[in-house]
Amino acid sequence: MKTNVAVFFGGRSVEHEISVISAIQAINAFDENKYNIIPVYISKQGKWYTGENLLDLKNYRDLNKLVSEATEVFMKPEYGDYNLYKATTGMFSKRNPVVAELHVAIPVLHGTNGEDGIFEGLLETIGIPFAGCNTLSSANGMDKITMKMILREEGIPVVDYVWFTDHQWNKDKDSIVEKIEQKLGYPVIVKPANLGSSVGIGTAADRNELIERINNAEKFSQRIIVEHMIEQLKEINCSVLGDADDHQSSVCEEPVKSGKFLSYEDKYMGGTKTNQGMQASEKRIPADLTPDMSEKIRHMAGETFRVLSCHGVSRIDVMVDEKDNSVYVNEINTIPGSLSFYLWEATGISFSQLMDRLVALALKRKRETDRKTFTYDQNIFALGGGTKGAKGAKGGVKK
Ligand SMILES: Nc1ncnc2c1ncn2[C@@H]1O[C@H](COP(=O)(O)OP(=O)(O)O)[C@@H](O)[C@H]1O
Ligand SMILES: [Mg+2]
Repeated sequence: MKTNVAVFFGGRSVEHEISVISAIQAINAFDENKYNIIPVYISKQGKWYTGENLLDLKNYRDLNKLVSEATEVFMKPEYGDYNLYKATTGMFSKRNPVVAELHVAIPVLHGTNGEDGIFEGLLETIGIPFAGCNTLSSANGMDKITMKMILREEGIPVVDYVWFTDHQWNKDKDSIVEKIEQKLGYPVIVKPANLGSSVGIGTAADRNELIERINNAEKFSQRIIVEHMIEQLKEINCSVLGDADDHQSSVCEEPVKSGKFLSYEDKYMGGTKTNQGMQASEKRIPADLTPDMSEKIRHMAGETFRVLSCHGVSRIDVMVDEKDNSVYVNEINTIPGSLSFYLWEATGISFSQLMDRLVALALKRKRETDRKTFTYDQNIFALGGGTKGAKGAKGGVKK
C-alpha cells in the first residue's frame, strides 16, 4: 500500500512564494511508487486547497484563478481524524466528503504561521505523524531571542545582543539606546525577532541610524533584537537531518551576498525559471574552509539541532568573524528553503532519499510519542472523591 503524504505549503507568511517553490520541488522528489502525494496549499488568507493545478508553478501567477480552480479543504481539530475534507457539502448531503485519508503530513511552510510552531500545534492536536520540528522546537527556533537564550545557556556561541518589545521601545527609547551603546557599541544589526528572509533587518553605525532601524523593525514585530554586528563576516550554512538522539550534519555551504548582508534578493531572486528558490541562490558547496573549521561548524550545527530538540531537516546558519576566526550560530531554519536538498545531494543523499527519511522520521516519532503514558484516561469524577460537597467549585481548583 502506498503512503498518503500531504505536503502543506504557502501560508500566511512573507515567505509564501518561497514555500510554494520549496514544496513543488519536494513533491517532485517523492518516489511515486511509494507515495501518493496530496498537495495542500494554504492561501495568503489562510484557506486550504488541494488539486492537480497546484503542482504547476505557472498557475501561481494568478492566485484568484488558482484557488477558484482548486478544491477547498479542511481538517478537523480532532485527535485521530486524519481525513482531509472537502469544505463544501454535496447538494443532497449534509456531510463534507472525504477528499483524502492522510497518513503523514509534511509542512513545507516557511516563516510565520508555519515554521514557528503554530501549524505544528494543529498537527499535534490531530495526532497525525508529521515531519519536522514539533511545536516547542519550532517556536524556540523561530524566535531569534528565545533561540539565542537557549543556545547561550547551553554553551553554544552566539553574538552579544539586547532585546526588547515595541511597547518598551515606545515608552523609553533613551534607556534602550543607552543599553545598546553600553553593551554593544556600533555597528549593530537590528532585527524583528520572528520573521525571516531578511525582512525588516537593517544595520546601524550611529545613534540616528539605530533609532531609524528600530522604528522600522518595530513595524514588523512586537519583539526586537539588536546584535553586535560582525564586520568581517563569512557566512556558512550547514544542514542537519534526523532527530535529537540520532542526526547527521551535511557538508557546509557558503552563500554569496551582493551587499553588506544577505538580502531577500540574494536568497531567492537569483534563479532562472527552472532553477528557483533557495537552491538557486549563489553559493559555494562545499564552502572554502579548513577541515578543522568545517568539522567545528558541522559539530556546532549538530549541537544546535540537539539542544533545541529538532527533528527532520533543519539548516543552521553560522557566522565566522574573519578577524579572529571565531564562530557563532546566527539562526536555525527549521523548515529550510528547498529543504536544503542541495546540501544533502552534496553529502550523498538524493532528494528522493531525503523525502523517504522525513516520512520515516515522522512515523518513528509517532511511535515514540504513543509509547508515553498519559494519565487523563481515568475519570477522576468517577472515583467519587471531591464531588460530594462540590469542594472544588467553592474552594477553587488546584492544579
Ligand atoms: N550579527 C550579525 N553581524 C553581521 N551580519 C549579520 C548579523 N546577523 C545577521 N547578519 C546578516 O544579515 C542576514 C540576515 O540575518 P538573519 O538573522 O539570518 O535573518 P533572516 O532570518 O531574515 O535570514 C544574514 O544572512 C547576514 O548576512
Ligand atoms: Mg538568515
